[in-house]
Amino acid sequence: MNGMTQFPYGISILEVTYIVASVLFVFGLKMLSHPLTARRGNIIAAFGMGFAIITTILFHKKDGQPIHNTPYILVAIVIGTAIGWTIAKRVKMTAMPQLVSFFNGMGGAAAALISMMEFPHVSPELIAKSGMANGHVLAILLGLMIGTISWAGSMIAFGKLDGWIGDLRIKALRYVNLTILAVLIGFIVFIMTRHPGASAELSVYIYIMFAIAVVYGVLFVMPIGGADMPVVISLLNSFTGVAAAMGGFLYNNQAMLTGGILVGSAGTILTVLMCRAMNRSLLNVIVGVFGGGGQAVAGTAGTVKEITLSDAAILLSYSKKVVIVPGYGLAVAQAQHSCHELDKILDEKGVEVKYAIHPVAGRMPGHMNVLLAEADVPYEQLIESDEINPDLPNTDVVVVIGANDVVNPAAEDDPSSPIYGMPIVKVRDAKNIIVMKRGMGKGYAAIENMLFYNDKTRMLFGDAKVTLQNLVNEIKTI
Ligand code: TAP
Repeated sequence: MNGMTQFPYGISILEVTYIVASVLFVFGLKMLSHPLTARRGNIIAAFGMGFAIITTILFHKKDGQPIHNTPYILVAIVIGTAIGWTIAKRVKMTAMPQLVSFFNGMGGAAAALISMMEFPHVSPELIAKSGMANGHVLAILLGLMIGTISWAGSMIAFGKLDGWIGDLRIKALRYVNLTILAVLIGFIVFIMTRHPGASAELSVYIYIMFAIAVVYGVLFVMPIGGADMPVVISLLNSFTGVAAAMGGFLYNNQAMLTGGILVGSAGTILTVLMCRAMNRSLLNVIVGVFGGGGQAVAGTAGTVKEITLSDAAILLSYSKKVVIVPGYGLAVAQAQHSCHELDKILDEKGVEVKYAIHPVAGRMPGHMNVLLAEADVPYEQLIESDEINPDLPNTDVVVVIGANDVVNPAAEDDPSSPIYGMPIVKVRDAKNIIVMKRGMGKGYAAIENMLFYNDKTRMLFGDAKVTLQNLVNEIKTI
């Protein structure tokens, strides 16, 4: 960065605008932490990014010269904005995780491209001028490695979430992945120890490194499946942030650096929280062998018992305590408003209603919180699953709406299950269980759920929205 236009005390106009942009990022990120302010937070952070881009185009100068290829940049921005805007406008709420994965991959690809373009320009003169040869080259190499892994991994995650890429579960991949990771680090050490001025000749190694990083990105996400995708998505998110921060180091661009660090650290914190929520170790995530697609429990045991609408209405109306467990099916059915109607009508009848929110219910972090906030369900009614579990034995009825994996007792009972060890909402502790779903379809982890065969469970089959509307009408008649 070399913003020539100066403010008093030698501060350049670009430095000031980058600080403003960084502050907007921080405020935007802070506001993302609550559903009520998240939309505004997103706009504020996007405004900060737009501001940083425009001021860079206007004021950036290299060797006293302004940017010379502005028309190309503007055309690229217009095309990218049009494509991004159209896709984001059209995407269904339930396909949002795939979209987030795809956009995240694009960020990684951009960081990798920056590195590939900049590496041949690391000349002895540049090094003499900047006096930071090692830092410069290291930022390029790390940006290439992490950005490429993030791009390749995100594309596989995109395919998996969209359902057209399956799991590749081979135990030996753990060792293959560790070896590839070691080779990548070996390449970095090798290139760093060569004379940096020979970078143009070393460019071929950059392409080999790129190819190996693609293989690693693919192989480390391929085996991950079942209920564990959220962890890998947030990890890839943090990778993109770190790769972008490398670009910030490279160009000495504070806005890029702050933006990258914020995404990287937020993604890392989310990954750690997700690991905790899923009871997984971070090392296993990085090596790429944990959880899985799973196989159905052999010999489905027992029979399922159904409940009629009127019986369900009576059971709920005469309860003292009801806990609703929402899941992905609630989002598919767009039944959040009907769900809130149910809790309001029960509340009018003096029933205490709470929601049990599992950290990975749905298909993206905070999915259930966002969904229920959309229907104006008071935030205080949403209780984390860990917190509500001890209360479930005193709960008269638990109503599971479109949730499956997050209430699957196999996580506690079956050590061979791919979700074993994952904390769940301990629905079976409640006195009565009503499960609303369309049929006996499996959840994301594609495994059988013995909860549906539990003695206390009654199934209320049908689309969640239709069932909830009928149930509310039925309760009104009591
Ligand atoms: P799932 O286990 O995916 O189960 C959803 C259930 O909803 C299905 O069994 C389906 O059964 C039912 N359903 C679908 N459409 C419905 C409709 N219109 N009306 C009523 N029911 C409907 O959901 P979950 O319990 O929320 O668990 C989430 C899973 O996704 C976890 O395995 C999690 O790890 C994974 N995941 C989460 C994330 C994040 S970050 N949250 C990201 C990626 C993956 P029927 O077909 O029988 O109706």
